[in-house]
Amino acid sequence: MANKNSVTMTDNRTGKSFEYNIIDPTLGASVVDIATFYKDTGLFMLDRGFTSTASCRSRITYIDGSKGKLMYRGYDISYLATQKSFVDTAHLLLYKKLPTNEERDAFKLELKKRSFVHEGMKKLFDAFPDNAHPMAILSAAVSALSTFYFDHLDIDSPEEYMEMAKRIIAKIPTIAAFSYRYSRGLPIIYPNLDRGFTENILYMLRAYPHDHIDLKPIEVKALDTIFTLHADHEQNASTTTVRTVASTHAHPYAAISAGICALWGRSHGGANESVISQLEMIGDVKNVEKYIAKAKDKNDPFRLMGFGHRVYKNFDPRATILKDIREQLMKERAIDSKLIEVANKIEEIALHDEYFIERGLYPNIDFYSGLILRALGIPKEMYAVIFVIGRVPGWIAQWIEFKEQPDGKIARPRQLYLGPTEIKPE
Ligand code: ACO
Repeated sequence: MANKNSVTMTDNRTGKSFEYNIIDPTLGASVVDIATFYKDTGLFMLDRGFTSTASCRSRITYIDGSKGKLMYRGYDISYLATQKSFVDTAHLLLYKKLPTNEERDAFKLELKKRSFVHEGMKKLFDAFPDNAHPMAILSAAVSALSTFYFDHLDIDSPEEYMEMAKRIIAKIPTIAAFSYRYSRGLPIIYPNLDRGFTENILYMLRAYPHDHIDLKPIEVKALDTIFTLHADHEQNASTTTVRTVASTHAHPYAAISAGICALWGRSHGGANESVISQLEMIGDVKNVEKYIAKAKDKNDPFRLMGFGHRVYKNFDPRATILKDIREQLMKERAIDSKLIEVANKIEEIALHDEYFIERGLYPNIDFYSGLILRALGIPKEMYAVIFVIGRVPGWIAQWIEFKEQPDGKIARPRQLYLGPTEIKPE
């Protein structure tokens, strides 16, 4: 008799049946273990975009899209975003626990000590043309970090890979700020060790040598919250890229550099930049109805940027938190009121429109993050870079998790070949 916790599949060509065990998770959907499916049947599975395929086992992040739930290592995102800092969250992802006060101080110090980049890296920045996109510079620079630490790339030593992890988290903000300053021809600003992790980023982006810079706590809080909300998000495209590179036994510099490239696309990390471009294009509340109609028109490719999500079909919990931060920020710092008006009008109409309700299309994190970053004076081409700074602890936690699983296999998907059969040369 078939085991109740299994799935039986019958190959109707041969009449043979095969049984596959169901593995139950701590939360979420159960998973069928089909590792022997090809051996049993000679068939591959086809699942474009991995909509039904779990690519790994993980204990880091859990999402329940229908309930709008997101947790890192068992902690609800709203608790982390409102009660804890990004540095706490990075510690949680890396060390599997929130830090005590002493651990937090020690971790902050470790990051500060590593926040400077080798002076030789400046030659790399010099080599890029003016107006080079900061994402291109960032991915090249993270890969190049490995050349400065070539004698400490032992991925089988936990001590060395944790060192690489801290180095990357600490140096990415500096590299990001340098790439922006170079692209604008502005003088480089070094990290200021008297400032906190997130405050330092705003400082390196905005300051001028010998000039005083005043940063409001709400500005630091807004950016810190954006980082926390982006810190991990299950097996999305860039995280899958990082784990795939990790599966080849490449070091974290290589894996994170690849992750940055995967995040660059407009369907992923580039979406918040598109939200702002679209709001600018719509330009005025009087045009909103026209663009909503375009978004609903099946024959028009136009989509409302910042609406919809593959996983969240009810609401995006990160968007709810950011909406609140946006309100707080608006009270203290001017946010382009024209764009806010357009954004609010879109939201108001879409939330009550059958088309959007039926399809579960709600504002996602990008709908709000772009306007906040704009209010913080961060230019559009840096939005994806900001996403990277937030996501790095998650990517590294995923790299470490892969590394620490004893039976990690190289990622090597199969394919459905539809090309020509063998052509005999004449
Ligand atoms: N505007 C108008 N219609 C939309 C939108 C939108 N933003 N998003 C989805 N739809 C419609 C589709 O046309 C489709 O309609 P149909 O069923 O009548 O054919 C239906 O909703 C389902 O859409 P899919 O594309 O199948 O949904 P999927 O889950 O694959 O896509 C995605 C999710 C890519 C996020 C999509 O909603 C989208 O393109 N949104 C705009 C871009 C965006 O904001 N991306 C950021 C995502 S958050 C992040 O990555 C951090």
